[in-house]
Amino acid sequence: MTLSFRSDAYIDGQWRTAARRFKVYNPATQKVVAEVPDLAAADAEAAVAAAHRALPPWAAKTAKERAAILTAWFDLMIADLDRLAGLITLEGGKPLTEAKGEAAYGAAFIEWFAEEAKRAYGRTIPTTAASRRYITLKQPVGVCAAITPWNFPMAMITRKAGPALAAGCSIVLKPPHQTPLTALALAELAEKAGVPAGLFNVVTTDTHTADVGRVLCESPLVRKFSFTGSTAIGKKLGAACVGSTVKRVSLELGGNAPLLVFADADLDLAVKGAVASKFRNAGQTCVCANRILVEHAIYDAFSAKLAEAVRQLKVGPGDQPGVEIGPLIDEKAIQKVTEMVGDAIGGGAKALVGGARSEAGAQFFQPTVLADVTRQMRVNTEEIFGPVAPLIRFRSEDEAVAIANDTPFGLAAYFFTRDIARAWRVAERIEAGMVSINEGVYSNEVIPFGGVKESGLGREGGVEGLEEYLETKFVNFGGVA
Ligand code: SIN
Repeated sequence: MTLSFRSDAYIDGQWRTAARRFKVYNPATQKVVAEVPDLAAADAEAAVAAAHRALPPWAAKTAKERAAILTAWFDLMIADLDRLAGLITLEGGKPLTEAKGEAAYGAAFIEWFAEEAKRAYGRTIPTTAASRRYITLKQPVGVCAAITPWNFPMAMITRKAGPALAAGCSIVLKPPHQTPLTALALAELAEKAGVPAGLFNVVTTDTHTADVGRVLCESPLVRKFSFTGSTAIGKKLGAACVGSTVKRVSLELGGNAPLLVFADADLDLAVKGAVASKFRNAGQTCVCANRILVEHAIYDAFSAKLAEAVRQLKVGPGDQPGVEIGPLIDEKAIQKVTEMVGDAIGGGAKALVGGARSEAGAQFFQPTVLADVTRQMRVNTEEIFGPVAPLIRFRSEDEAVAIANDTPFGLAAYFFTRDIARAWRVAERIEAGMVSINEGVYSNEVIPFGGVKESGLGREGGVEGLEEYLETKFVNFGGVA
């Protein structure tokens, strides 16, 4: 199928071209699929100014009026799901079935927040003096800016733009240079849906990423900044936002999710959950199980079953039928995964399946299960972002929790058990923003998604996701004699 797409940037309701453009590649073939404007700091400033102009009339609308426009945007996304999924696969590489899942997941944030903003309730607070009355108002934060990642080219945009627009804010988005086409398709649908000019701006850039980022973090017109990406970059952006103009900041950063399999677990369920979690988007997901901790008594049985399941996974270009593992995003990613597996095998780990680059193409890595991994190895201490499942043995619940928590990260955690008391204990003791028991994938629009420790600040999705785009203003009515 030939996919139609826009390849110009979108600022103030206008499609903006530029003499200087950068190439967008298909990671499965390394072929160029588009050339997109390589915008600079001045363009980002223009987008922020447009967002600032567009804000007052949008904020003045009722939540119901905003919801009607956002619902039209959602409906267009649903009607265009196949094309959106095709673009996600084309530029991001994930298998088409997963891309369709992401497109539906992404659209759902718009629907959810359109509805949820109608319930942005303030409070009345019991007074402390007979002459006073206290209330709080919920008001839009103002102009927002967002920098999004390539691993979910659509959903990471809508889960920021959805609450921002629903709350009455405007937004300037910088999509990643690897996957700008999905972002531009969202702008195209926003325009069709009647989202007023200047409310949703897409500033594409590659070589000027640092300059554009600086404008978004430091502009006094921007009141809120949201980033999904690595912890290293998130720390710098967060510091720039606070250090310059004390902006509100949401950071969804790196993870090192443990997946614990206790001896009392349903092993088939645990294998299914581990495969679903670990191999989603070829392991390029912040919430992927990064390391799998298995209780000694079932270590051999679980490893054998997991290796067998992983051996069946079909690797190839995401647009081919039945493919479950697509390419990694670029050469740097494949090199990193190759090095990390080399480090583990060099240190004594054994590849039960996989362990090397795949013959499917230059950016494909074989789905891999590594046994006898130790806590010092890079596959345990660093985020792998590839289709590699390291297995680590534990002998008690205390040891499992200690290994799980022995990381600066705290995004997601998973465990498998049939013991209800243990389920409570471990869920409470694990240091993570999200814990999933007996299931490997749970993401959706109604839950609060986010991490603790160095995995980030704030929550996206759910009721909490709207709060990130609202200010709470306290009002005192005095002189009520
Ligand atoms: C991510 O990788 O951060 C997003 C994963 C998700 O939304 O499930």
